[in-house]
Amino acid sequence: MQISKAMSDLMNAQIGNELGASNQYLQLSAYFDGQALKKLAELFKKQAEEEREHAMKFFDHLNEVGAPVNIPAIAAPKYDVASAEEAFKMAVDWEKEVTRQIYAMVDLSITEKDYASQNFLQWFVAEQVEEVSSMENYLAVVQRAGEKNLLMLEAYFSHQ
Ligand code: FEO
Repeated sequence: MQISKAMSDLMNAQIGNELGASNQYLQLSAYFDGQALKKLAELFKKQAEEEREHAMKFFDHLNEVGAPVNIPAIAAPKYDVASAEEAFKMAVDWEKEVTRQIYAMVDLSITEKDYASQNFLQWFVAEQVEEVSSMENYLAVVQRAGEKNLLMLEAYFSHQ
């Protein structure tokens, strides 16, 4: 094994975090689908697929470095969503939490002089900048439009 047990534990936990995010975004997609807001439903469905790809990056990396893969239990997503604003707020909070999780791994890789993990994690550092930024922008647009103008949002998101 080319990485420490502490690092492989965090990376395994991250597989669960990313799959949990994927399920949560799929759940949000269903919420928007139920409101007949197809573009917003598509946006979260696509986001759910991306989160699954993130989980797979950790999965493949653990295999590549010969570390054990132990996929953790994944909590059920939150089912009750009251509004589009709440959905996007959840997404912003989630992306900020994932950023903290990635930074914790980067911190560990620096402490352990684990340059291979540092290199692998840099992709996620850049990705989180983009994900937090885009979710914050979407939230701002949703707040500006207001819940009464969700159809305008559909038009907005059809151009994204
Ligand atoms: Fe995989 Fe959106 O963080």
